[in-house]
Amino acid sequence: MSEAGDERLRALRAEFDEWADRYEADLEHPEGVLVGHADARRLSASLLTVRPDDVLVDLGVGTGLFAECFDGGGATVIGVDLSPRMLARCAEKHPAWQYAAGHFLAIPLPDHTADAVISAFASHHLDTDEWPDALREVMRVLKPAGKFLLVDILFVDEETKDEARRILGEAWEEENYPVYTHLGPVAAELGLRATFTALTPLHAAVLFEGMA
Ligand SMILES: C[S@@+](CC[C@H](N)C(=O)[O-])C[C@H]1O[C@@H](n2cnc3c(N)ncnc32)[C@H](O)[C@@H]1O
Repeated sequence: MSEAGDERLRALRAEFDEWADRYEADLEHPEGVLVGHADARRLSASLLTVRPDDVLVDLGVGTGLFAECFDGGGATVIGVDLSPRMLARCAEKHPAWQYAAGHFLAIPLPDHTADAVISAFASHHLDTDEWPDALREVMRVLKPAGKFLLVDILFVDEETKDEARRILGEAWEEENYPVYTHLGPVAAELGLRATFTALTPLHAAVLFEGMA
């Protein structure tokens, strides 16, 4: 990773370490682009079936809110995050889960570990040009028939994102919110199918799976 990339990760780590203790309280009254985040997580959970003997990796696990939507089935959950403080908060809530400090471009797990990788509200911290490497890293960690469910402040195309920006006005926070018209072709280049599902006016899911 470049020096600038390292510096960006350090800044993100500091930001989320600082937010970790207040994160869930803040989300009880979400604002701006996070309005409806709980509905987005709940609705997207129906897009992926997780079985009791599955290994589920949550990338950008935070305090565990997304993996909790799938935990009832008894799967082995591995939370990955770049923020040690977020991991510590999550471990207090879910001592039976496993944890690893890492990030989208360097997931500290062996090849073919996971039946499914999930990620909610974390991928918009990637630069647009980092997506091919990020998807390759997720696919490395997945078993061959595995699936990757991505949920985020995510739009079908740039026009829809522009419209959301216009409607939210000052409540909009500018970040690298992904668009499906970019992710779909990146996935296709890697031999993956990417299926888009709108969840709320601001949030959507993309399910990545092999072309087999
Ligand atoms: C807004 S929180 C979302 C947490 C949780 N997934 C949820 O839905 O509540 C974003 C999380 O992603 C983590 N994160 C941000 N950028 C990341 C990256 N590049 N790799 C891994 N984790 C990242 C942050 O540390 C933080 O815990």
